[in-house]
Amino acid sequence: MINKRKNILKIAIDSPAAAGAGTLAKTISKHYNLCYLDTGKIYRFIANLKLENSDTFSLKFAKSKIKNLETKDLNDKKLLSEKVSIEASKISKKISIRKLVHSFQINFAYNPPKRYSGSCLDGRDITYKIVPDADFKFYITANLKTRALRRYKELKKLNKDITFNQVLKSIKNRDKSDLNRRISPLKRTKDSLLINTTNLTKRSCFLKIKKIIDKKFSN
Ligand code: C5P
Repeated sequence: MINKRKNILKIAIDSPAAAGAGTLAKTISKHYNLCYLDTGKIYRFIANLKLENSDTFSLKFAKSKIKNLETKDLNDKKLLSEKVSIEASKISKKISIRKLVHSFQINFAYNPPKRYSGSCLDGRDITYKIVPDADFKFYITANLKTRALRRYKELKKLNKDITFNQVLKSIKNRDKSDLNRRISPLKRTKDSLLINTTNLTKRSCFLKIKKIIDKKFSN
């Protein structure tokens, strides 16, 4: 049993890769003083452990690392590589891996540190598996080409040697895998508000969400 803080604001976001959910979630979290977790980073962290320890990697090993996981581990730039993205999508299909990160995410969502007014998590199964009773649920998306271009620009900024077509192909494959897997597939729940960021600036996306949240608070 985990402790659940009462009267906190919980925001759950699901989205396909590179739809802009992370940037948006960070801005929302800062504005409403919420503790933010990019859950994809946890799958990336385990994927990287597997890539770096291919001979000795085991579930037990991953479990021990997750137990002592610190925010700085999730901010490591190497987690952003395409190699890690592809491996993260592969390992996240496994029920044993999902079970491993489940309680970490739930604890984060329902029991954020006291200095925060709540939590905001983004991922693939947040709106229906991790925080099904969230106060606000959003499904953030954008068309494939726009997402690939955003991701390509991000990777180029990190000096990664990659072409636009490679990024496009990788995102297409990840979409296919994330949407069609049997366990915790990416889906938009009926109670999630759809935000398509294709033709919106970061600021206008934020204002759109802020309007929705503030409207509920003023009622
Ligand atoms: O969001 P990001 O692209 O960093 O996620 C990397 C991979 O981790 C995704 O392609 C997806 O397969 C997996 N993931 C997941 N469930 C989440 C978050 C991410 O399966 N809640």
